[in-house]
Amino acid sequence: MPRLIVVSNRVADIHSSNAASSGGLAMAMAGALKEEGGVWLGWSGETSDDGDGPPQFSTVDNVTLAKIDLSRQHVEEYYNGYANRTLWPLFHHRTDLTSYEQSFSESYLDVNRTFAQAIRSFVKPGDVIWVQDYHLIPLGRELRALGVDNRIGFFLHIPWPARELFVTLPQHSDLVWSLFGYDLVGFQTEKDLMAFRDYFQTELKTQQDDEGLIDLFGRRLLARSYPISINPSEMAELSNTETAANSFRRMREGNEECKILLGVDRIDYSKGLPNKFAAYNRFLERFPERRGTAKLLQIGQPSRSLVEEYQDLGEELMAEAGRINGRFGRLDWTPLSYHTQSYGRDALAGIYRAADACLVTPLRDGMNLVAKEFVAAQDPADPGVLLLSRFAGAAEQLTEAVFVNPYDKEQTAEAIVQAIDMPLDERQDRWRAMFDTISRSSLTAWKNNFMADLKNEDRPETPDRAE
Ligand code: F6P
Repeated sequence: MPRLIVVSNRVADIHSSNAASSGGLAMAMAGALKEEGGVWLGWSGETSDDGDGPPQFSTVDNVTLAKIDLSRQHVEEYYNGYANRTLWPLFHHRTDLTSYEQSFSESYLDVNRTFAQAIRSFVKPGDVIWVQDYHLIPLGRELRALGVDNRIGFFLHIPWPARELFVTLPQHSDLVWSLFGYDLVGFQTEKDLMAFRDYFQTELKTQQDDEGLIDLFGRRLLARSYPISINPSEMAELSNTETAANSFRRMREGNEECKILLGVDRIDYSKGLPNKFAAYNRFLERFPERRGTAKLLQIGQPSRSLVEEYQDLGEELMAEAGRINGRFGRLDWTPLSYHTQSYGRDALAGIYRAADACLVTPLRDGMNLVAKEFVAAQDPADPGVLLLSRFAGAAEQLTEAVFVNPYDKEQTAEAIVQAIDMPLDERQDRWRAMFDTISRSSLTAWKNNFMADLKNEDRPETPDRAE
């Protein structure tokens, strides 16, 4: 029986209830694989002193996990290096933080080859391979080089960069060439797809046809957008658990007269946390009559703490939270609670439901599933307000959110006031429209749409492949 083989940098604990700390990708893939069954291959998270290891197999329910230990050098140069110090900042438009170190790109290719060899050792005819995210762009090409001719798809969870920035990467054409090892490449948004199209139209003088097909380098590639999502019924169920009820109660106790503004983010410079704190500070400055009537609870999940920029950001946020509390706090009111621990999804469901507004204000984000989880966890009778950055991928779908430009602290401060004062009927109307969007475009729909396009046997192959 043909299997689904999912490949991502990390293999998450399939039963983990830990949400945002493991990131949207892990939650989404665990959800998709639980439905479909199959194999999930990736890095174990462990470092080996004897080079990259062979895959270690284990089985959880209907999913086989294949975990690979990576050598110390590869963890440093592939994961901390090329993935997190080159591609991540560049694709998030932070060329100021991008490292163009050559050795990083060599380790990146090495690890992709390690993964390709591991898959080659167990893949069977008819299996469908689905590769996830920027850590593994060359994997399709490496698999083709080993003779694997199965259907292989790739989904990019982060934004595709603007051409002018992407071409600063010495390996930009190699990466795009690598993408033609896949049959299908999926992006989060239409904007990402347009940026990709701009690259090959301008740099490679090639067009995409009306169906989204591109013929290049002797291969035919389909490129489309598939906005990733959550299953809203799952979040609604979680908000009815005892843990959710407890966290809901603890959030509301003592805050009966105080509006709770919530933030839930990985501590990552792409999430715009210093901008959020600055906008909140501006809100307290400009609207002194609001002091004591609202508070911000920011949950920041530690992330990539071996990368210097992440350590610096963590310290900056601690210091800024202290400054805001020192300046505005009173004996009976702490304006900003900043927590750096992770919460399970059930506790988070209660936290989302207890909040009056959620501030999702990244500077650039592939999708942002916190925005969708917040909407799904709300009480339809008394829903909270979503403040959403226009630069999050989710903004393409959740058009009834209150949009903010996180670079503009005046406008964000005004949006906080708008959220606090929003009448119940407007909150309900906006919430209903967003909930319907998420219900129509769920995680299950995302997986099914991608898989249907990937498996589509009717699609004509490039002539040289069909021969
Ligand atoms: O969503 C982007 C992403 O890099 C995922 O690939 C990853 O699962 C998540 O963020 C968390 O990042 P990391 O695995 O580096 O902690």
